[in-house]
Amino acid sequence: MSPMPPSPTPTSADLHADSAKEGTVPIMDRLKAETRSAHEAAEAIPFNAALVAGRLPLARYVGQLATYAMVHTELDARLAHATHPAIRAVWRDDLAKAPLLERDLAALGQHGVSVPAPAMAAAHEFAGRVRSVAADRPVDLLGYLYVLEGSTLGAAILRQHLQRALGLGDEGLHYYSPYGNAVMAHWKAFRQRMNEAPLAPAEQDSIVTSAVEAFDRIGAILRGLSDGL
Ligand code: HEM
Repeated sequence: MSPMPPSPTPTSADLHADSAKEGTVPIMDRLKAETRSAHEAAEAIPFNAALVAGRLPLARYVGQLATYAMVHTELDARLAHATHPAIRAVWRDDLAKAPLLERDLAALGQHGVSVPAPAMAAAHEFAGRVRSVAADRPVDLLGYLYVLEGSTLGAAILRQHLQRALGLGDEGLHYYSPYGNAVMAHWKAFRQRMNEAPLAPAEQDSIVTSAVEAFDRIGAILRGLSDGL
């Protein structure tokens, strides 16, 4: 009689896929891994490249603040008023970015605001999408929140470029430094709340899909703001 073939040893990829199916991979690990290429694409958008190279005109920076304010005004309010238990477990009022954007706009608006039409259209669309997701499937707003909250990590670096290239002081840079020196502490606390939030496996899947969508939508705004850069 021939011996039984050895049972195949599962690879780590198999194990990861199995535990992802069962919802046991922490949601923040999935979000990071499954949006990695979207992040790389976002970094390569001419607007961000110009910002890092110190070539971003001030009025275009103000245009970014104006378009982001349209999105955050909707997103912050919908998250603050949500009743879904996972959103209530994650949201804290100090995550709101609209007040910071409004302060920066008040400080810099007199220098002019350059928002090419495609950027304005993309911001309107994203704000409208936030409203419809809040009505139909509010938990997916956590995917949008992940992307915008995660962008505070890169913002700490980008802020220095903006300060140097545009000669800005603290006034005008509140959005780019929402937590002062405590960016990592805030991010760790946010990670923990997200990972511990009560989320069904299907909700985790749709949050990851929404995060990819948010990168696309922010990308559309930033590509619109890249006109001529
Ligand atoms: C030139 C532009 C950018 C630079 C230089 C940059 C840089 C960074 C850096 C250094 C980190 C920390 C990475 C780590 O600790 O593993 C990070 C994380 C992150 N960034 Fe960006 N970033 C940029 C643009 C963006 C944009 C446009 C968005 C979306 C609006 C974004 C969203 C995120 C997110 C969600 C994370 C968290 C990743 C995680 O889950 O750990 N970034 N970025």
